[in-house]
Amino acid sequence: MPNKLILWSVLALSLGCIALAYEPSPLQDFCVADSTNSVKLNGVACKNPMQVQAEDFFFSGLHLMGNTSNAVGSRVTPVFATQLPGLNTLGISMVRIDYAPWGLNPPHTHPRATEIITVLEGILEVGFVTSNPDNRFITKVLKKGDVFVFPVGLVHFQRNLGNGYAVAIAALSSQNPGAITIANAVFGSNSPIPADILAKAFQVDKSVVDMLQTKF
Ligand SMILES: *[C@@H]1O[C@H](CO)[C@@H](O)[C@H](O)[C@H]1NC(C)=O
Repeated sequence: MPNKLILWSVLALSLGCIALAYEPSPLQDFCVADSTNSVKLNGVACKNPMQVQAEDFFFSGLHLMGNTSNAVGSRVTPVFATQLPGLNTLGISMVRIDYAPWGLNPPHTHPRATEIITVLEGILEVGFVTSNPDNRFITKVLKKGDVFVFPVGLVHFQRNLGNGYAVAIAALSSQNPGAITIANAVFGSNSPIPADILAKAFQVDKSVVDMLQTKF
C-alpha cells in the first residue's frame, strides 16, 4: 500500500506543478512591489506589509484616452505591477486600448498571459492564429459589450472597423504579460536580424526586407 500512496503523492505533486505553470498562488495576502529594492527575483521584492497603504492597490487614469497619433492608430495604456505595485505576485493586470478610426493594434503576442477583452465603444475586428502546423485564423467582429479571449502566447490583433474612436478594456493573466509586436521584433530588432535570413524566411527578395527594416 505505501507504494500506492507514493504514486498518488507524485501524481498530486505533478498536477500541482501544472497548476503552477504561470504565476504561483501567493503565500501571503499580498506582496506590494518595493521599487526601491534591487533584489532580483521572479517579480519584485515585497514592501514591508505594515507600511502598505491603500494607494499601493490603486491606479487612476483609465478614464483618459490614449494618444493614437502614431503609424498604426492605437495606444495601449497599461496597468501592470509597474503602474500598480499591489499587483505584484497576483498574476493579473489590465489595459485600456484606444483606437483611432480604422486604427490597428498590430499582430503581437503576450508570452506570459491570456487576454480577455471587452469593447466599451465602437466595433472591433479581432483575431488570433493557432500554433503550427495548423495556423488556423480565428476571427470575429465585436460590438460594444462583447467579450473575446486571446489564449496565452498566440499572435493576435484588433482593428477598429469604424470612422469613430473605439475603446476596449482587457484583463491579462499576469502582473507583467510582456508584449512581442511581430513586425517590430522581426524587422526592428536591435541589432537587426541579417536581411538574407529574413529574405529566406519570408521567401522574398532582400530589397523587400531592406525596405521593411527601415520602417521599424
Ligand atoms: C500625441 O502624439 C503625437 C506624436 O508623438 C504628438 O505629436 C502629440 O503632441 C501627442 N498629443 C498629445 C495630446 O499629447
